[in-house]
Amino acid sequence: MTILVTGGAGFIGSNFVLDWLRQSDEPVVNLDALTYAGNPENLASLDGDARHIFVKGDICDRALVDTLLSAHKPRAIVHFAAESHVDRSIHGPGAFIKTNVDGTFTLLEAARAYWGALEGDAKAAFRFHHVSTDEVYGSLTPADPPFAETNPYEPNSPYSASKAASDHLVRAWHHTYGLPVVTTNCSNNYGPYHFPEKLIPLMIVNALAGKPLPVYGDGQQIRDWLFVTDHCSGIRAVLAGGKLGETYNIGGWNEKANIDIVKTVCALLDELKPSAEGPYSRLITYVKDRPGHDRRYAIDARKIERELGWRPAETFETGIRKTVQWYLDHPEWVARVQSGAYKDWVSKQYNG
Ligand code: NAD
Ligand code: TYD
Repeated sequence: MTILVTGGAGFIGSNFVLDWLRQSDEPVVNLDALTYAGNPENLASLDGDARHIFVKGDICDRALVDTLLSAHKPRAIVHFAAESHVDRSIHGPGAFIKTNVDGTFTLLEAARAYWGALEGDAKAAFRFHHVSTDEVYGSLTPADPPFAETNPYEPNSPYSASKAASDHLVRAWHHTYGLPVVTTNCSNNYGPYHFPEKLIPLMIVNALAGKPLPVYGDGQQIRDWLFVTDHCSGIRAVLAGGKLGETYNIGGWNEKANIDIVKTVCALLDELKPSAEGPYSRLITYVKDRPGHDRRYAIDARKIERELGWRPAETFETGIRKTVQWYLDHPEWVARVQSGAYKDWVSKQYNG
């Protein structure tokens, strides 16, 4: 048996592939376009491992997706590939519509044709697992209960609107065509291999470089943080036991204000790599707020616990310590991502 993963060179996808192959010998076909966010160095430990088949390509390329499905006959597609950064979606929404909406549509159509031709047990076992975000539910006030799977969709950014559109397509392909789908809507992830444009890795690498730590607005926006390997185990649980056509929220019960996250990162760095110039919190700089900035996200993760017995293994305290330590232990990864040097490897490998 084999699974097809899309976007497996990105932050969560690469953690998922590494985690999957640590726990099982079932091969992974990894389809990734290697945009700026895709970094094959995340998967360097799998070099020469026949269980990992990497294919550089676009999920919008129907002919390629068809070829991969008929060549590898996967029992599941786990769909991570996306444009994922809210700030980039504000500056250039087009790529988000292309990959997140058109790309998901292309995959669904290819999956429908492939699944339609399967028979017996293979047909019954096939799954299309769509990986999505809690941002589709919009923004909460401090008094609101956390997002349940029954919350209405109220996306506010081009990113969340494009993910909401993809969720709706996945739902419709189940309802109309019977495609065996499951969807997970997860809260903010953090951990190793996180591209340093997102809050936590940006704060770590800027602090170590003595650069300002830009906090948007008043820093009181709340996100619900989950260590990335807990997201991976949640996806595995839903892939294995989730009910067809249903959605499952995944979250860590860790609501934190941005400013508290930044202060926690500073305190850990003060302990693990103190700066001669004084506490890292001296670098905190309040900057102009993000347009349309959602105030609060929080996940009610009781459904996945009740139905599938999933709980996060990490607390925020253990997860953030592991994360800061990982960045301290991998200065070459950070340097090559920041200089763009990892792209040299990509062009050498894939563009002759
Ligand atoms: P990422 O930006 O780090 O990685 C995205 C990957 O997709 C990259 O490797 C990129 O090269 C690839 N990709 C982009 N466009 C592609 C295309 N057209 N064809 C093939 N590959 C393409 O994103 P991430 O943070 O790892 O997020 C993965 C998924 O999880 C996304 O669907 C995202 O919406 C969802 N999600 C992310 C978070 C989070 O906190 N990061 C939380 C919940 C859900
Ligand atoms: P981000 O990591 O971009 O994730 P998302 O917007 O998908 O939740 O941002 C997390 C929070 O941190 C969000 O409220 C925006 C804020 N933020 C900053 O305050 N400064 C920054 O430099 C970045 C990148 C984010």
